[in-house]
Amino acid sequence: MKGVVLAGGTGSRLFPLTKITNKHLLPIFNKPMIYYPIQTLVDAGIHDILIVTGGRNSGDFLRLLGNGKEFGLKHLNYTYQEGEGGIADALNLAEHFADGQKICVVLGDNIIEGSIRRAADAFRAQERGARILLKEVTDAERFGVAEMQGERIIGIEEKPRHPKSNYAVTGIYMYDGTVFEKIRQLVPSRRGELEITDVNNAYIGEGTLTYSFLEGWWTDAGTFESLRRATNLVAETEELRDAKLIEQAAADGE
Ligand code: G1P
Repeated sequence: MKGVVLAGGTGSRLFPLTKITNKHLLPIFNKPMIYYPIQTLVDAGIHDILIVTGGRNSGDFLRLLGNGKEFGLKHLNYTYQEGEGGIADALNLAEHFADGQKICVVLGDNIIEGSIRRAADAFRAQERGARILLKEVTDAERFGVAEMQGERIIGIEEKPRHPKSNYAVTGIYMYDGTVFEKIRQLVPSRRGELEITDVNNAYIGEGTLTYSFLEGWWTDAGTFESLRRATNLVAETEELRDAKLIEQAAADGE
């Protein structure tokens, strides 16, 4: 399976931070935001990765990431999104790269505590269709929200005023090679964008959408509040990890 990180957009909700740089280059604790989704893919055993970016600062991604050596990669792929067509439009640019294979797509501002390895392995074994990752939240109206019937997802609503469940659709999606045909059939939403939620609903329509629950904390980082939350969560997690390492070293020394 190949990986795609979507790192375009204007980041208008973070203005003026994004006036002179791309949202995904902003810091989350001690690393640029884009490091986290790349690491998510690498930790899931995905090493062939495409970065989709755009705007005036796209060259900075190449300067920052190069060939991905810091992640143990030999090579990174880049592509450029012209204009502002939404997430599904950005994903469309990955068709040539995907070359008919399965892909795991991560939104560049989605940061997780744990690993998606198990979900990725489940999707590797899944014959066709798509797999999404759900997370129970208290502010579902900010996200795509799954409507459940028993264990089954029967629909996804994008940022509904009255969410039908507390299960947010996180920005980590796994698709088979038919995703690009589905994107071609989309029509722009009310906000004038090709919505990733409509892609997922197309898979629900053909009965091939599966899901896993995401383990550990999850946050996006596209607003001031979530940017701060992301920084705090990463900092706390690193502190805990360091404390455990020190404890372990002390125990080993005894
Ligand atoms: C996007 C998707 C939404 C998803 C969210 C996850 O929203 O449209 O379905 O739940 O990412 O971060 P955005 O916040 O980019 O508008």
